[in-house]
Amino acid sequence: MSLQGKTIVVTGTASGIGAEVARLARFQGARVIGVDRNEPSLTLDGFVKADLSSPATIDEAVARLPQHIDALCNIAGVPGTAPPDAVARVNYLGLRHLSTQLLQRLPAGGAIVNVASILGAEWPQRLAAHKALAATTGFEAGAQWLAEHPVAADTCYQYFKEALIVWNAVQSQPWFLQHGVRMNCVAPGPVFTPILGDFVAMLGEERVQRDAHRMARPAYADEVASVITWLCSDAARWVSGVNLPVDGGLASTYL
Ligand SMILES: NC(=O)c1ccc[n+]([C@@H]2O[C@H](COP(=O)([O-])OP(=O)(O)OC[C@H]3O[C@@H](n4cnc5c(N)ncnc54)[C@H](O)[C@@H]3O)[C@@H](O)[C@H]2O)c1
Repeated sequence: MSLQGKTIVVTGTASGIGAEVARLARFQGARVIGVDRNEPSLTLDGFVKADLSSPATIDEAVARLPQHIDALCNIAGVPGTAPPDAVARVNYLGLRHLSTQLLQRLPAGGAIVNVASILGAEWPQRLAAHKALAATTGFEAGAQWLAEHPVAADTCYQYFKEALIVWNAVQSQPWFLQHGVRMNCVAPGPVFTPILGDFVAMLGEERVQRDAHRMARPAYADEVASVITWLCSDAARWVSGVNLPVDGGLASTYL
């Protein structure tokens, strides 16, 4: 598998999964442009420092990104220990805005990969709400819908990962049919990155212990990164609209 000659925009390149995707994609031949609010600590082909929580700063970043992009990896995210408004803006509304703004720069055969989570697995329980939010057009309309339909603070991380999985599902096929651009999610289980401890604090010891005996270990970031770069590659050219678990089998134990 090769990403030779492809230009890939990766958000969240300053840490964790995003940094590993950037490293691996460059190794596979891609030109990687990183976007993050923090400086990266690895070699990239370009970097745009940006806060992905507001449409204005996202638009400024878009203006500095290349005109031709083969793939966009939406990896930047905050855990549920962050303020709920930040979770909504970074993990969902901003991701949607950036993807929509960059869509026209992606050629047929291009790809978007969104990082969801195993914690979004309960999306069927709130499908009607997630579809209604997905039907809103633009950042401000989404924010307005959320103001009218408040989300519980203690489960907002799960809510917006669920919402991302549903938006990915409903938006992917129109974009594939109209633009030839594929869009998929990956849903990692726990991953050894700096925010793993935040997830433990967010979920509580009881839930963590319940899951702990069902899995071999948390993933290493490179084990998630290799799936993301595969989804960016032409080898995945007929894969679109899926939410792919990358969790060492953990989600299968929920059945
Ligand atoms: N680590 C896990 O256990 C785990 C599990 C499932 C899903 N995820 C998801 O994986 C993605 C990557 O997380 P990670 O574990 O690599 O965490 P991380 O904290 O190591 O990396 C997240 C990156 O996103 C950037 N970021 C956060 N807010 C931003 C903003 N407003 N603007 C620009 N950049 C911003 C951070 O600076 C950081 O570089 C996230 O979407 C997270 O929800 C993580």
